[in-house]
Amino acid sequence: MKKLFIKTYGCQMNFYDSDHMSNLLNDNGYETSTEIKEADLIILNTCHIRDKAAEKMYSDLGRIKKVFDNNDLIKPIIAVAGCVAQAEGKEIIKRSPWVDLVVGPQAYTDLPKLVKKINSASKKKEINLKFPEIPKFDMLNFDKKKEKVSDYVTIQEGCDKFCSFCVVPFTRGPEYSRLKKSILEEIEIMANNGVKEIILLGQNVNAWKDNSNESKVYNLGHLIEEIAKIDKILSIRYTTSHPLDMDLDLIKAHRDVDKLMPFLHLPIQSGSDEILKKMNRRHTAIDYLKIIELVRKYREDIAISSDFIVGHPGETKEDHKKTLDIINEVKFASSYSFMYSERPGTKSSQIDKKVDENVKKNRLKEIQNRLNHYQLAFNKNMENLDFPILITGKNKNNQFVGRSPYNQNVYINKSDLPIKETNENLIGSVLNVKIIKSNQNSLLGTYFNNA
Ligand code: SAH
Ligand code: SF4
Ligand code: F3S
Repeated sequence: MKKLFIKTYGCQMNFYDSDHMSNLLNDNGYETSTEIKEADLIILNTCHIRDKAAEKMYSDLGRIKKVFDNNDLIKPIIAVAGCVAQAEGKEIIKRSPWVDLVVGPQAYTDLPKLVKKINSASKKKEINLKFPEIPKFDMLNFDKKKEKVSDYVTIQEGCDKFCSFCVVPFTRGPEYSRLKKSILEEIEIMANNGVKEIILLGQNVNAWKDNSNESKVYNLGHLIEEIAKIDKILSIRYTTSHPLDMDLDLIKAHRDVDKLMPFLHLPIQSGSDEILKKMNRRHTAIDYLKIIELVRKYREDIAISSDFIVGHPGETKEDHKKTLDIINEVKFASSYSFMYSERPGTKSSQIDKKVDENVKKNRLKEIQNRLNHYQLAFNKNMENLDFPILITGKNKNNQFVGRSPYNQNVYINKSDLPIKETNENLIGSVLNVKIIKSNQNSLLGTYFNNA
């Protein structure tokens, strides 16, 4: 067997794709290895969302070249996959001529064929950035995934929203929803392989639809109901949603489906209507607040999280203040926040009024301080509560790890567990856990026998 090394950057969808690239190549003579030095095939599955993510890939490529420069015995095939591959194509080979293969996020099912071609033609370069007629999901092998307790399933991919700052519509292509049948088939297999929590993925996951049935259009709320019927699946989460696609069926599922966790990641990006307009988000701050109000009406305790971009071109002090205001209003349980990063080819990159880098930095700090404040307060509210927690693994400190219903990391000391249960077999089981301490990014829990 030859050896394969994959490094994954970016979002969860890339991790899902990397798992499937691994499966495909495992079926074609490559075994996956964690040791780059012995690899015959190196794949970088890349992210183009911000400048830093893309540049990271180039510096890694430089480092990889050095590893093999002095080794005449091993000359691995070096492949770039994912969103930088789609966005930059052959430019990557121009800039880093030691790259052999460039493959886009919709074309990676071709990897075995392309790798074979390169092997037999002693390193002719190969590029495939196509959006194939047969969706990649119809060509994946679902039965080979490594056993995990909590795992991702891509149900929707691509984006038609064209927010003016964002590269995703270009790198992932137009919005595409998988058929319900194919999704349920994959989840059934995962459940039989030991997966107990499913995290549904999509760039606009709540835009998911299956129109193939003439009598009923299925939406995400319906799909979640169907997944909840699979006995072995205990917990369902989904990410990322767009405000324009929030519908009542999904909101009601948060009231009606016990297995659906009370957590909603719904990015607003900015609290200022002027900036939202410049971003082409097609919703206002009030629209967003109305959605949150409705969601909370159906599921009072739901945790809300968001993404924020700070320093979009044209952002004034007043706009920035409006973002702080909306944070105070919603009191997010957690969030991601980023400094605006100019991306080639996007509409925002053509707006003249750039925000000074130092101003951006200061605004980001201010936003993050405010977000941290509410996150800490939200976490503090968990103290003395108890939840059933699905144990997904162990951390460096030998504590068991799981997630609260509200998506917080929960750590449990081994010594807190009754002796008969301190063994490894706890991974995959559900424990009653009482929260005894809260931190900025995690909760500490103890085993709590309420039987
Ligand atoms: N489809 C999802 C995820 C998009 S990427 C969504 O609509 O939310 C994840 C996050 O990266 C975005 O929500 C946004 O906050 C951030 N992002 C995207 N483009 C960016 C850019 N040019 N600069 C800084 N952050 C960006
Ligand atoms: Fe990017 Fe906007 Fe699409 Fe999200 S909705 S992927 S931010 S264009
Ligand atoms: Fe990055 Fe592509 Fe995901 S740009 S965030 S890897 S969709």
